[in-house]
Amino acid sequence: MIKVDISNVWGDLSLPDLLGAEQEVFQAHKILTEGKGPGNDYLGWLDLPTFEETDEMRRIRRAAERIRSDSDVFVVVGIGGSYLGPRAAIELVKGQNHNLRGKDPQVFFAGNNLSTRAWQELCALLEGKDFSINIISKSGTTTEPAIATRALRWMLERKYGAEKAKKRIYVTTDPARGALRQMATEEGYETFVIPPNVGGRYSVLTAVGLLPMAVAGINPVDVMLGAARARKELDIRSFENPAWQYAAIRNLLYRKGKAIEMLCCYEPSFRYFAGWWQQLFGESEGKDGKGIFPATAEFTADLHSLGQMIQQGERNLFETVVRFTAPRKKTSIEVDWKNLDGLNYLEGKTLDFVEEQAFLGTLNAHVDGGVPVIVLQTDEVDADTLGELFYFFELSCGISAYMLGVNPFNQPGVEFYKKNMFKLLGKPGY
Ligand code: PA5
Repeated sequence: MIKVDISNVWGDLSLPDLLGAEQEVFQAHKILTEGKGPGNDYLGWLDLPTFEETDEMRRIRRAAERIRSDSDVFVVVGIGGSYLGPRAAIELVKGQNHNLRGKDPQVFFAGNNLSTRAWQELCALLEGKDFSINIISKSGTTTEPAIATRALRWMLERKYGAEKAKKRIYVTTDPARGALRQMATEEGYETFVIPPNVGGRYSVLTAVGLLPMAVAGINPVDVMLGAARARKELDIRSFENPAWQYAAIRNLLYRKGKAIEMLCCYEPSFRYFAGWWQQLFGESEGKDGKGIFPATAEFTADLHSLGQMIQQGERNLFETVVRFTAPRKKTSIEVDWKNLDGLNYLEGKTLDFVEEQAFLGTLNAHVDGGVPVIVLQTDEVDADTLGELFYFFELSCGISAYMLGVNPFNQPGVEFYKKNMFKLLGKPGY
């Protein structure tokens, strides 16, 4: 179970502040779970995690086995909520260099940008490889994935012929609506569903996340078990609930002028998870002229870049540090008889011990510098912890956004750039 350590936030807050927010958190949690708040037609994610394997999950596992047996490469096409979740999961559990390991199919992502260079690089990587694609789009009309889809379908058809290509195209979309659903039905692609009551950034525990994870060798059943446990344990209606503590503290800090939250982790493989979190909180809370800006940092690397700003810049931020239990398999620092680098004082120490001291030293420095720090302590990096983290952040976000007084489930601002772009492109109707 995730533990929230709030012992380093008290410079700006007091315990009475926190206790005074109890009713507010209680109400926010209540309207969320009772479906009485704005955006209440998008609450399907609350009930996605189950202890039993569903038919959809069995189908996902079967499709993944097929893809693993006939493809060297799996291309996942999608953007935003149809992209960040699967990438976050695969990089966190399988590592940033998962594609170099050679054990599982390589997983590449497309349709999340409009870069010609990135596209041409992907084409070169696919050269001579057997590949399948997973097109993920809830609306089925988003421009970036639509352009990549058109090109990838052609590549598959040229390589395998129209009929065989169809067996290599997997579609994850709305069960009834949108151009992608229509295309899948007409062409006979295998499809998976994004339930209409689950918004993009809350969809990682549907086929959106689970199929790419399964292809990459992560058991979706384990992810769901972690999420289902979190669903059960995070239902407590008191400050014993870690989601309450997190949602309350971040809102209280915001009210004290801490307008930026920096999600930090000492694992480089956490980078895309932080990106998923950034979208979740950014799109859910940034509206009506309000919202905590979700920033991210990778420590210790960013201590050598952002560290100065965090320590002594404008006092408008707080940190949330995600800590994983140290790995069981240790790496030790060896002795060097010449000791030219002066490191022999660390002889025999494990790397995770050094990392722990870096964390503690940074924590004290930042707190001394006036940065409140929330620490989220969790277990080892694995599929179960991943599921737990996804659900923890989703629930915390729903509660937190209701405390802030905004609709956590819409994103009206995202449309503005699209309208301008369509007008410039000459899309009919714009
Ligand atoms: O969270 C969201 O709803 C958005 O980020 C969408 O996921 C993103 O815009 C992609 O949309 P779609 O899945 O419809 O292609």
